[in-house]
Amino acid sequence: MHPLRSLILAAAGNDVIRRLVATAPVSRDVVKRFVAGETTADAIAVTRELVSHGLTVTLDYLGEDTTDSALAEQTVQAYLKLLDGLNEHDLAKHAEVSVKLSAVGQALDESLARENAARICAAAEQAGTTVTLDMEDHTTTDSTLRVLAQLRGTWPWAGAVLQAYLHRTELDCARLATAGSRVRLCKGAYAEPPQVAFPDPHDVDRSYVRCANILLRGEGVPMFATHDPRLVQIVEARAEALGRKPGGFEFQMLYGIRPEEQLRLVDRGHTVRVYVPYGVQWYGYLMRRLAERPANTAFFLRALVSRK
Ligand code: FDA
Repeated sequence: MHPLRSLILAAAGNDVIRRLVATAPVSRDVVKRFVAGETTADAIAVTRELVSHGLTVTLDYLGEDTTDSALAEQTVQAYLKLLDGLNEHDLAKHAEVSVKLSAVGQALDESLARENAARICAAAEQAGTTVTLDMEDHTTTDSTLRVLAQLRGTWPWAGAVLQAYLHRTELDCARLATAGSRVRLCKGAYAEPPQVAFPDPHDVDRSYVRCANILLRGEGVPMFATHDPRLVQIVEARAEALGRKPGGFEFQMLYGIRPEEQLRLVDRGHTVRVYVPYGVQWYGYLMRRLAERPANTAFFLRALVSRK
């Protein structure tokens, strides 16, 4: 791992640094680049702004790894409030939600997570939108796909993320490339052992392309979550070659990352969905985004130095 990345990830787990960053006034500007804010109103304001530029949105209420059922319930309540808000502001046809099962109780009990996710799906249906399950580390993949299958029994539009870095993912793509099935394909963000994941980034890219081909040939709705210019180009060309019309698949990127590319793809007639995180637990998410790219850390340090 890059030494700067290790340093930032270590800082992410350090309570003193956490308090410093969370309370420094300068953090607000840096946080704003990657996180919509702390409240439902912030999430809705950012959604409205993105939608006005022709983008679509998926919203993530930040929080993960809950081993406390009260916290899991708080997360569910936050999603219910958000879905109400999207409906009320007439944004639900442009914005869906992304849910981490670990934030709604997966580590406590899979059935609790399933029931909580089902409550979010029911509210999404009422609002007129959809839900996508985020994918976490490989120890949770089977459980998440089991919950997905159960949810899809009632809500066939329920979607999930698959991670190209896992050896198993081509097979999972083939299983999920069925009519109406929404699959978000990403590279994968967790530190995984070589027994389950490709350690070499080139192998991950090759796996991404193989998985993209499977999804594009299938009958589902593939959602390509990547900022990688080469992969975007390959997916666009493969989609065209396989007769997928724009609108029959999506490109997806994180809020604040390559925003000009997001608009370029919209101009080319593609559906582009921006993953917008919000909530008070933004610190860990921000640190992961900074760790992904030294240039982001430079941006953060410049902001610190230029502080009035
Ligand atoms: P890569 O990391 O190789 O980056 C390619 C290029 O993109 C870089 O060269 C740079 O130009 C730009 N870039 C990437 N990251 C950047 C950053 N932080 N700042 C600035 N520029 C950056 N993972 C997971 O394990 N489970 C999940 O559920 C999800 N969900 C998810 C949803 C959506 C919509 C997206 C876009 C991503 C995820 N991810 C995820 C994260 C994903 O696995 C991956 O870690 C990141 O998308 C980065 O990988 P890229 O494909 O962008 O390629």
